[in-house]
Amino acid sequence: MRKKVSIVGSGNVGATAAHWIASKELADVVLIDIVEGVPQGKGLDLLEAMPIEKRDSHILGTNDYADTANSDIVVITAGIPRKPGMSRDDLLNTNYKIMQDVVGKVVQHSPNCIIIVVSNPLDAMAQAAFKASKFPKHRVLGMAGVLDSARFRTFIAEELKVSVENVTAFVLGGHGDTMVPLPRYSTVAGIPITELIAKDKLDALVSRTANGGAEIVKYLKTGSAYYAPSAATCEMVEAILKDKKKIMPCAAYLDGEYGIKGYFVGVPCKLGAKGLEEIIQIKLTPEEQTALNKSADSVKELCAVIGV
Ligand code: LAC
Repeated sequence: MRKKVSIVGSGNVGATAAHWIASKELADVVLIDIVEGVPQGKGLDLLEAMPIEKRDSHILGTNDYADTANSDIVVITAGIPRKPGMSRDDLLNTNYKIMQDVVGKVVQHSPNCIIIVVSNPLDAMAQAAFKASKFPKHRVLGMAGVLDSARFRTFIAEELKVSVENVTAFVLGGHGDTMVPLPRYSTVAGIPITELIAKDKLDALVSRTANGGAEIVKYLKTGSAYYAPSAATCEMVEAILKDKKKIMPCAAYLDGEYGIKGYFVGVPCKLGAKGLEEIIQIKLTPEEQTALNKSADSVKELCAVIGV
């Protein structure tokens, strides 16, 4: 039987995630939204692309959670996006209300699914989904690190004029201004980038990565990025559905790992059929640990505001 992935929210991120997932034939996709007609229209349009793409993924757009029943994975993109001048944190209260409502319905219809949260502010929304779902921690993940590290990889590849395939990059921490790109663990064909890029240049790339979301919002004016966020989501979906045991940075519930307890923060995670299969602990320098703690503190502050 084919796998089933439901995507809550048929805006740009949700619909484009459906596009990547279907075009890779990873699963059948259900696109659900409260807006009438939009998921149906986008779903049918994408379905009609499948003969051209030579893919047999089925795509259904709906407003009825019954159609999402027994999903293997539910991706939650629902919520309002940023406008220029807004931080991800400005979305907190509105998106928290949406998250509570959505998670209740998701759990009712897919009690065994793995939830991937994409809504912002990411780490706090993952925490909210974890608490509302009462799922075990291996079945709730947040998508941020794959996106942030993809941005870092893009900038490194451009700077060194090498293939993006040669570049691996690690970004830890929350999905926000306090994220912690780790140049020490970022490599080009195995060579640490600290040996290839001068410090001031590297600092500029790190800063551009941390502000990568805002850079796109500034151009678009009416919303936030969606191609890279949805591609990053698709990579997580693929790792889980194919049981790849792939290590990638994700927001995960920490239970003492990295000295942080009881919060979602971005760390290296092994993803496979069970969802989060392992949190990989790497040794951080005191400066890196301080930066990670600062990032975790800002996640805690947001969680305190909404009481999760
Ligand atoms: C970004 C938003 C989606 O980083 O958080 O582009």
